[in-house]
Amino acid sequence: MKKRLLIIDEDTGYARRVQEQLQDSKLVEICGHVTREDQAWQMLQSAAPDMVIIGEITGVERGVLSQRFRLAYPHLSFIAACTPTDLAWEPFFRNLGIWVLVKPIVPEQLEALAMMPQAVSGEARHIKPETFAPPQSALHGQQMHAQPVSTAPLQHEAAFMDGGMFKQPFPKRLITVYGPKGGVGKTFISRELAIYFSLQKRMDRPIRVLAVDFNLDLGTFATTLNLARTPNLFTWIQDIDSQLHRLVQSQGRNPFELTSDEWQAYASSYRLSPHDIEKYIVTHVESGLHVLTSPRDIRHSFEIRNYHLYLILEALKQSSYDVILIDTAPDTTDATIQALFFAEQVVMVGNPVVDSIENIQRLLKLLREAEYPEERIQVCMNRLQRKEMFTLEEIRAYFQLHPSKKIFPIPDDAEVKKSINTGTPVMLHPGKTAAKEAIEELGKALLPVGQEEQVGQLAKGKGKKEKTSLLRWLWS
Ligand SMILES: Nc1ncnc2c1ncn2[C@@H]1O[C@H](COP(=O)(O)OP(=O)(O)OP(=O)(O)O)[C@@H](O)[C@H]1O
Ligand SMILES: [Mg+2]
Repeated sequence: MKKRLLIIDEDTGYARRVQEQLQDSKLVEICGHVTREDQAWQMLQSAAPDMVIIGEITGVERGVLSQRFRLAYPHLSFIAACTPTDLAWEPFFRNLGIWVLVKPIVPEQLEALAMMPQAVSGEARHIKPETFAPPQSALHGQQMHAQPVSTAPLQHEAAFMDGGMFKQPFPKRLITVYGPKGGVGKTFISRELAIYFSLQKRMDRPIRVLAVDFNLDLGTFATTLNLARTPNLFTWIQDIDSQLHRLVQSQGRNPFELTSDEWQAYASSYRLSPHDIEKYIVTHVESGLHVLTSPRDIRHSFEIRNYHLYLILEALKQSSYDVILIDTAPDTTDATIQALFFAEQVVMVGNPVVDSIENIQRLLKLLREAEYPEERIQVCMNRLQRKEMFTLEEIRAYFQLHPSKKIFPIPDDAEVKKSINTGTPVMLHPGKTAAKEAIEELGKALLPVGQEEQVGQLAKGKGKKEKTSLLRWLWS
């Protein structure tokens, strides 16, 4: 049976061309073309499409619109028809669960998407359409204002929504530890936070924590805990590619003959099973922490593609871990940017030296321009000595942080070096040390254990507002 395609685009010439190109298609048929949002809502109901292409509509934020359509009609496939410039943000569009094709779209691409198995699992996106009925303003064709919409992957959000109630008692947290300068203590802080969370309990059960080493080429997280480096991220990536090859073959295609666009379409429609994760982790026995380590061989990191990381991050979000902590490299590669945009919270680590401070300031500027929700960022100054040239107040002022925002200090401590060399986290030292207490304070701020539901509400409420602005930026 042919898949029914609805085109939403005010470029009527382009819509006509697609229509002509698909005239003889055995896989796709056009069930309608609309140029306005109110018409789109009506056609979504009356024309019963399977796939929807969203192009340009003046005055409407496409990302916001797609997200609302998707919430109301989660079983449909949505495709953003992008210009090459929009494509820079492809990972983020895919993060929204929207497929991305570049204009001019060729019919084969649409046919390839039509042949895909359903892109989203029903279980993950089980949201009742009536909960997200289009607003009256949209139905009456009035200018629509950006509604608060979350860009967080839906499956995560779905866990919260069950008739407006929390279905999952604790919100899952993905925390990315980042710092735009090498050697400032990201891995040390990631390790200590991961161990700290592993030692916490919620409702009498230990929190399930996974640490992920996103320093794809030169990661050392495993080393700092004396852990084996096999299995690792690359083991998973090899399995992902085997699974994708099997999927393509099952559809009668030769994986080696696919264009990169087709391969990308297959990959972005695919969903990894979150239950497989345990095959690729190593366990830190003393704390019970699970670790997804970086590849053992640097050459393996060269084979990691954005879609691998995207699929992995999606699977992590759906996993049963309560907290996922990602240690990153001091760079702005796609791996790091994806880790930042997938995170509910970011720990921005620096040292009290000008170069580190300058780079954090530059990064904050970039993220502000991107309308990245600053509430998600916790700034942490590591290796503070008794007397510093710059006070935390001066650093705060330089970063132009919101008055309510505190900088988390972590003292320079001779024990740290020893603890890294021996693979024994400071958190597992008996007794108190200044560094240990400082990490605990940061950990409590990131995940106030005992107030989970409140945190969930907070995260949900904030997410809604913040994410709209991110969308506005992405699609503007
Ligand atoms: N609070 C601290 N007190 C003393 N030494 C510290 C502290 N934090 C980190 N260090 C030292 O700094 C070194 C670098 O730390 P770490 O490897 O965590 O940095 P990083 O930011 O992850 O580096 P990279 O950018 O290379 O990944 C550690 O080996 C440790 O010796
Ligand atoms: Mg590191």
